[in-house]
Amino acid sequence: MSSFFGQHLHLALFGQSHGEAIGITMDGFPAGMTIDMDRLAAEMKRRAPGQSSLTTPRKEADVPEILSGVLDGRTTGQPICAIIRNTNTRSKDYGEGVDLVRPGHADYTGHVRYYGFEDWRGGGHFSGRLTAPIVFAGALCSQWLESQGVQIASHIQRLGSVIDDSFMDHPDADVSGLKAMHLPVLRQGLDAAMEQEAMQALQAQDSIGGVIECRITGLPAGLGAPFFDSVESVLSHLMFSVPAVKGVEFGEGFGFAALRGSQANDPFRMEEGKVVTTSNHSGGVLGGITSGMPVIFRCAVRATPSIGQTQQTVSLCTGENAELNIHGRHDPCILPRAVPVIEAMAAIGVMELWKERQACVK
Ligand SMILES: Cc1cc2nc3c(=O)[nH]c(=O)nc-3n(C[C@H](O)[C@H](O)[C@H](O)COP(=O)(O)O)c2cc1C
Repeated sequence: MSSFFGQHLHLALFGQSHGEAIGITMDGFPAGMTIDMDRLAAEMKRRAPGQSSLTTPRKEADVPEILSGVLDGRTTGQPICAIIRNTNTRSKDYGEGVDLVRPGHADYTGHVRYYGFEDWRGGGHFSGRLTAPIVFAGALCSQWLESQGVQIASHIQRLGSVIDDSFMDHPDADVSGLKAMHLPVLRQGLDAAMEQEAMQALQAQDSIGGVIECRITGLPAGLGAPFFDSVESVLSHLMFSVPAVKGVEFGEGFGFAALRGSQANDPFRMEEGKVVTTSNHSGGVLGGITSGMPVIFRCAVRATPSIGQTQQTVSLCTGENAELNIHGRHDPCILPRAVPVIEAMAAIGVMELWKERQACVK
């Protein structure tokens, strides 16, 4: 079922963009963690819309109401359920019902899949808005993982033609300032060039995509499994669940195709009694299992489907070809809002892998 995830940390995601509320239930979260509410609110804010000209002007406070699983600020170990009310909806931007399907969006496939009964308003259950409860759950997982020494950081490695440095070449890059940046980049000043390119796309009534790179440090060796529940499988399952993510690669990724074994292998070494590798082409995963080196992966994020330009489509009502002009409020560039979502998904994935490892103690 598409709205459930996890065998050890169980998530259920619900709601639609223009319904009463969206939310998540998370079962299997450890008991006794004091939630840092300020940091939780800061994460929600990073994803929230209306923060710059590169994101939709739609204003949503995105304040989660925790309905269960937390008592006196601490997790109880029982299912945590949180909802976020939809306070700013303008369904009239979308017409009377789904008729002219948006190229690149899920209007057509969702209509076919649900026999025409889908909640089509504002993208319904397919909307990027559903990533708000994911950030809520991910922020809790991140806080717990940090108590175990795990740190997750991301940056926009590419926006259009502007390319940032990579964690592959800068494994120890300072990530302390990234969360505060609207367009988080490793190379100082590059965010201005990215902003300029995104603004050019916006002025042309177009949208723009790019790549988000994520680094997870402090992971012990031994999380994951071969085959179906490999670290890559679990994490890319979650990454491909993020609307607009179209590609995921680990370490050298597709670059492995050009490397010989002698170039691709990461030599092992003992360092202060610990097994490390002197390079990290594999991105911290060998045989589906963490090696103890940083896990590094990248997600390709497509340009926003809803654009201002006139587009060719079909009318589901008349069965004829048609032209589409979109009037709703959309993100010209999804990347800045997707960064905290990728981090949240990474935290959820690591938590799932962590609990799986705990469940098979020797
Ligand atoms: C945070 C976030 C915000 C998004 N905002 C928009 C938007 O404003 N307009 C739009 O057309 N798509 C937006 N999307 C992308 C669509 O939801 C997505 O492209 C669509 O559901 C089709 O899914 P697919 O791209 O995975 O095939 C957003 C995605 C995310 C993660």
